[in-house]
Formats: sequence, structure tokens, C-alpha cells
Amino acid sequence: MRNKGTLLKELYTNISTTGAITFSSKPLVDKMLSYADFKGVKTIVELGGGDGSITAGIVDKMEKDAILLVFEVNEYFCKEMEKMYPQTNIQIINDSAANIDKYLNGEKAELILSSLPFSLIDKPTRKEICEKSRDNLALDGKFIQICYSYLLKYQFKNYFKDIQTHFTLKNFPPAFVMVCN
Ligand SMILES: C[S@@+](CC[C@H](N)C(=O)[O-])C[C@H]1O[C@@H](n2cnc3c(N)ncnc32)[C@H](O)[C@@H]1O
Repeated sequence: MRNKGTLLKELYTNISTTGAITFSSKPLVDKMLSYADFKGVKTIVELGGGDGSITAGIVDKMEKDAILLVFEVNEYFCKEMEKMYPQTNIQIINDSAANIDKYLNGEKAELILSSLPFSLIDKPTRKEICEKSRDNLALDGKFIQICYSYLLKYQFKNYFKDIQTHFTLKNFPPAFVMVCN
């Protein structure tokens, strides 16, 4: 049984890297994943796994022979997620999203699902993550981001051709879902 209180404490005591005081709500996760078509998808990447709230939604929807790589810089969150997801096709990677290329072994991801706190990530790392996400995304793949600021769209415009923005009040704080390709 997961200790939600300890996970939340870890989240807000590390707010300078987590960028949140609470985890994504189920309605927000459902909204994010409603823009992802998992049919036939074999390689999925999640950026910023945290407590695994988005991971749980992905695991429910992904095909049995798909692989999921979850990047998370916080060691405690990784250890908790490893316990939650012992499946061999799910890799919890305690490394920065800036290193996704090192783990994809030349494969392209059809879906990249991110809840990274981009506004708190330094500019060179942000650029590296965006460039590598774009370059490691399959041609018809989607990069989907949860965020709290519409302004992120203007940064994503430097990397993605098309960005659709959706909004929901069913989260604290209210959030945007940006669907990029
Ligand atoms: C806003 S929390 C989201 C957690 C969870 N996925 C959710 O939606 O509630 C962002 C997560 O990204 C992680 N993170 C921050 N910078 C990262 C980076 N460069 N690479 C991978 N994970 C990072 C943080 O440790 C934190 O767990």
C-alpha cells in the first residue's frame, strides 16, 4: 500500500524540482490520455513520473507488448514506482529527461507523455529535453504535456509544428494539456 502522505511530503519539500504541491488528479490524467491513441503503439515514454499517477493511467491503456520508459530524477519516487510497477516491460529510470536518447537505443517513441515542470528547469536543459523529445518522436507520434501556464505553448512552438491546447478546471491548480506533433 502506497503512503500518499510521504509521497506528497517528498513532492512539496522538493518543490524547486517537482514544481507542484499536489499530484495530477484522475480527471486531468484521463483528459491527458484521451488525446493519446494507444492502439498499435509499442514505445511509450513518460517524463516526470512522480508518484506514478499518470503512469497508472498509461499502464491501464498500453498494449501488453508495448514498452514504457519512465524518467524521474527523484530517487524516492523511483523506488516507490519500481515497487508499483515490477513488470519487465516498464522501466523506471532514475535519470533526467534530457537523457532519453541514451535509453531508446535508436527506437522512436510513438507517445511522449510529460508532466515536467518546464518553468523550473534551466534553459539549456529545457532546450535539450525539447530537442530530444522532438528528435526521438516517431513521425506520427505525439508529445503531450500537462502544465499550469499557457505561455509554455510559445516555447514549444520552437520545436513542434502543431500544438493543440486544452484546459481543465478539474485539477488543483487548473491545468492545460498541450498536444504537440
Ligand atoms: C509536477 S511533478 C508531476 C508528477 C506526476 N507525474 C503527476 O502528474 O502528478 C513533476 C515531476 O518531474 C520530475 N522532474 C523534474 N525535472 C525532471 C527531469 N529533468 N527529468 C525527469 N524528471 C524530472 C520531478 O521530480 C517531479 O516528480
